[in-house]
Amino acid sequence: MSEADRLNAILESQAPAVFRCLSPLGRQAAFPKGIPWQSAMAKDTKINATIGQMTDGYGKAMPLSVMMGPAADLDEGMTFLYAPVEGHRSVREAWRAREQRMAGTEMPVALPIATHGLTHGLSVLASLFADPDTTLILPTPFWGNYKLIFTMYANAKLATFDFFSGDGFNLQGLADCLAQIRGKSILVLNLPGNPTGYALSPDEARQLCDVLNGHQHPIVVAVDDAYQGFIYEDDRHPRSEFWDLAETLDPERHALFKVDGATKELLFFSSRLGFLTHPYLGEAEDAILSKLKYLIRGTVGSPPGPSQALVLKALQDPRVEAAVEERMDVMRGRYRALKRALAELKSDRIHPYPFNAAFFMLMRLDGVNSEDVRLRLIAEESVGTISVADPNALRVAFCSVDEASIPELIGRIAKVVG
Ligand SMILES: Cc1ncc(COP(=O)(O)O)c(C=O)c1O
Repeated sequence: MSEADRLNAILESQAPAVFRCLSPLGRQAAFPKGIPWQSAMAKDTKINATIGQMTDGYGKAMPLSVMMGPAADLDEGMTFLYAPVEGHRSVREAWRAREQRMAGTEMPVALPIATHGLTHGLSVLASLFADPDTTLILPTPFWGNYKLIFTMYANAKLATFDFFSGDGFNLQGLADCLAQIRGKSILVLNLPGNPTGYALSPDEARQLCDVLNGHQHPIVVAVDDAYQGFIYEDDRHPRSEFWDLAETLDPERHALFKVDGATKELLFFSSRLGFLTHPYLGEAEDAILSKLKYLIRGTVGSPPGPSQALVLKALQDPRVEAAVEERMDVMRGRYRALKRALAELKSDRIHPYPFNAAFFMLMRLDGVNSEDVRLRLIAEESVGTISVADPNALRVAFCSVDEASIPELIGRIAKVVG
């Protein structure tokens, strides 16, 4: 029996939906017994001649002297030596503890696996599950990169539904979309979301679980928690849907993964440090880890060390949540200023969608083309926005506009839109 067959047999009995949803590549995936594997086995040997990195002969890093000074506060080994393919255990444990703390739960979940940012986490899921027979379900509008990630190698089919229905998330649209699908699907949930800036109400979060459990065919639910925690209203569901789904999704039919990371949550945009978390434990956790390491090893090799060292330092600092809160206060100020400016706006052509979270708001434009408006805003008003073709809308990233400039930003948009 090949190693991949062994892993598949474990998944079939212990995480049946994960097994059923694997793509051909996912079925073939098994971490090879190559250099990282052999080197990990030898990590406690007296003379370790396994891995292609220069050390002092006793496992200690030997960085260039000109780099040692700037990195003095970081763990030297973590910063300069290769990380394990799945990331450093200490960072993974600290990340899981924070995820559970933020969600107010002690529910056991697998140790998060480090990825090269969230994009790579999603790409790894695409490799594991997507193939030309898979339908990728996305609410429109969606973050454009999903299409690239899930169709670039895997060529999944795309099915969409309108994100909004009235003032809320279009649960009926999702149910109708699912009703058309007979085979395997992948549903990406990005709430709080880009480009919408929308987080679910508690009621919507409950109903979402019901809608998914009502679907008879297998779904891989990928919860993209990039903007986890950035919620500005008290009436929103305060935790990631991942936890609600982990508690309620039928594991015989539906598979569940959470993609998150330091990028937005710790405002460490350049870190290229994301995490993949799932609820499968025991042998299934080991089998999934092996498959994911196969894909990570074959794409980015291993995750970045300096980012892990810096993130670990932050997570071990008792002041970390206060530091996040400090930045959150700035975001809340910008959010409120934007709400005020939009409330005072008098334009029949600008229709803001509901927003209460994340870094963005979206306004539908009537009677003018959003791409024309975007170009005119740059040329005539020195204002940068993103145009979204479907629906004809502008995305405003208020995360990068200071509070004092927000009325002016909206004023300039209104001037061009008319
Ligand atoms: C919804 C969403 N997911 C994922 C990402 C990508 O994150 P990363 O830069 O860590 O790849 C972004 C970045 O804008 C995003 O908006």
